[in-house]
Amino acid sequence: MRTLSVNLGNRSYLVLVGRGLIDGIGEAIGQVLGRGKAVVITVPPVERLYLERVRHSLVDRGVDPIIAVVPDGEEAKTVAAYTGVVGRMLEGGAGRDALVVSLGGGCVGDLSGFVASTYMRGVGLVHVPTTLLAQVDSSIGGKTALNHPNAKNLIGTFYQPKLVVSDTSVLRTLPPKEVKCGLSEVVKYGTILDRGLFEFLESSAAGILDLQDGEVETVVCRSVEIKSKVVAEDEGDHGTRMLLNFGHTVGHAIEAASGYRGYSHGEAVAIGMVAEGLIAMEVGIFSEGWLERLRGLLLRFGLPTKAEGLSVRDVIGIMRADKKVEGGEMRFALPGPIGSGEVIKVNDRRLVERALRGVLEDQQ
Ligand SMILES: NC(=O)c1ccc[n+]([C@@H]2O[C@H](COP(=O)([O-])OP(=O)(O)OC[C@H]3O[C@@H](n4cnc5c(N)ncnc54)[C@H](O)[C@@H]3O)[C@@H](O)[C@H]2O)c1
Ligand SMILES: [Zn+2]
Repeated sequence: MRTLSVNLGNRSYLVLVGRGLIDGIGEAIGQVLGRGKAVVITVPPVERLYLERVRHSLVDRGVDPIIAVVPDGEEAKTVAAYTGVVGRMLEGGAGRDALVVSLGGGCVGDLSGFVASTYMRGVGLVHVPTTLLAQVDSSIGGKTALNHPNAKNLIGTFYQPKLVVSDTSVLRTLPPKEVKCGLSEVVKYGTILDRGLFEFLESSAAGILDLQDGEVETVVCRSVEIKSKVVAEDEGDHGTRMLLNFGHTVGHAIEAASGYRGYSHGEAVAIGMVAEGLIAMEVGIFSEGWLERLRGLLLRFGLPTKAEGLSVRDVIGIMRADKKVEGGEMRFALPGPIGSGEVIKVNDRRLVERALRGVLEDQQ
């Protein structure tokens, strides 16, 4: 097991990463649980696979948890699911000393964080992320969210957990498309923040795709270190943390233009990274050679580098409606030489259109 930390003064917390950790979750949670109730929030697929082991470990430690099972995927991040969980907590007698434990992917994590930050004006939170994306990204940094029917992640808070427990062995049951989704974010970290990680991904791609223990642990730990460092520098997302948007300005627009059906988040971000790499080339901070390495790595992970059936006009229209546009200027987190990046304002619409043409097959 490796122990990492997110350094945020008196709200600092540990991140435990290793194989088989969920069987010892009672012990880990015991360290941060006072006398209150533990509330485990999960979704049906994870309940079937792992809840019994988690419950067993908690009961062994003398903790009898309240269990709340919410609908899977984005349906977990609804006001209805939120109200349901709060109802279970009330029934179960959870008080201000309760501890919310999220057991699942980023969707359960975002809901659980929001529950913990608002139930009785705030109770403790522990994340037990079970997807690669949640282990490398969403469990670190304290963003919580619910979706509004008209806007994803519109309702949310910043609320840090007391502990994160990432059991890398549970990733073996993930559908391959979910593994790819997480890897897309890891490629992002390497490209914009850590050349060593990028090169590790290039040299160990086969082992990573095969979910070899050593390789996966390295990927998760390095990603946690990178995201923690960025969050420690800019918890409120006003500066450095914006670098983590690399691939996301175009990626979000591709997701939206395809009606959230054509491309998964990770796939859209992969295409977005190539498009934003092209913008960075035009701006003069990224080279053709680096772009080829980025494309090559994405393709090895089975991620797309082009989108089909979307028009430049639609995608750019969505980008301009995005919150990152100020007075017609679009802000992008762009890569410099691999392992570095900067946030740059671009006001040349034609430059952005040219880059989009490089990744959209339908070019009207
Ligand atoms: N808070 C943040 O900083 C942050 C960052 C990135 C993404 N997010 C959010 O995270 C969400 C996406 O998270 P996600 O990609 O983890 O999706 P998810 O939570 O929907 O999980 C994906 C699927 O995998 C299943 N699953 C989870 N663990 C499993 C396991 N070990 N074995 C088998 N199946 C398993 C889930 O039931 C689900 O069907 C989005 O809503 C996004 O907005 C939040
Ligand atoms: Zn993302």
